[in-house]
Amino acid sequence: MEILLDSADLQEIETYSVFLSGVTTNPSILSKYRDTDPSVRLKRICELVNGSVSAEVISNEYDQMLEEGRRLASISDNICVKLPCTFDGFKTCEKLSNEGIATNMTLCFSLPQALLAANSGATYISPFVGRLDDIGQDGLALLDDIVELYRVNQYETRVLAASIRHMQHIVQAALIGVDAITLPPQLLKQMFLHPLTTTGLEIFQRDWQKK
Ligand code: G3P
Repeated sequence: MEILLDSADLQEIETYSVFLSGVTTNPSILSKYRDTDPSVRLKRICELVNGSVSAEVISNEYDQMLEEGRRLASISDNICVKLPCTFDGFKTCEKLSNEGIATNMTLCFSLPQALLAANSGATYISPFVGRLDDIGQDGLALLDDIVELYRVNQYETRVLAASIRHMQHIVQAALIGVDAITLPPQLLKQMFLHPLTTTGLEIFQRDWQKK
């Protein structure tokens, strides 16, 4: 399962790059860094990681989305153009995919949207697990359904679990068999931690120091 970082923080990306298969960004994430040109930051991120770097279009209409998608893709070969699950988004996905540009269909909240993403040739589909949970629905159940839909239809689109809020989301998404998951830095850090590892190390150190 690919692990991606949902961040545009250069220092954190560099620190964890050895564990990362890529990075995902969105307009909210990039808006935290108004001091840098987003294209410059994205280029730098692409230099820090080997895998795909998702960069989202801001426009909502086909012509502009297409132009923006092509411009984003020209930043680096690593760029995966992120498009929303809307009519214009799917249309743009179809076109960019035919041009050989990697795509990530984002803001996915339903199985029909996931079906359209696969038929549009998307490289990734990003179901938002946490935001579905937030409105009282079952985000993990949607992940499970999409993985099964793609399996029985032998679609090549990769399932990228997004909007991940806690460790159980990570564990369950992995057991469901998603292809990839994107994590905020604080959750990636938690993956390394277990209280018994910490106390076990302390005991080993203490015993070793004993005379
Ligand atoms: O990158 C998209 C997604 O992971 C956003 O998550 O926490 O804003 O719902 P969140």
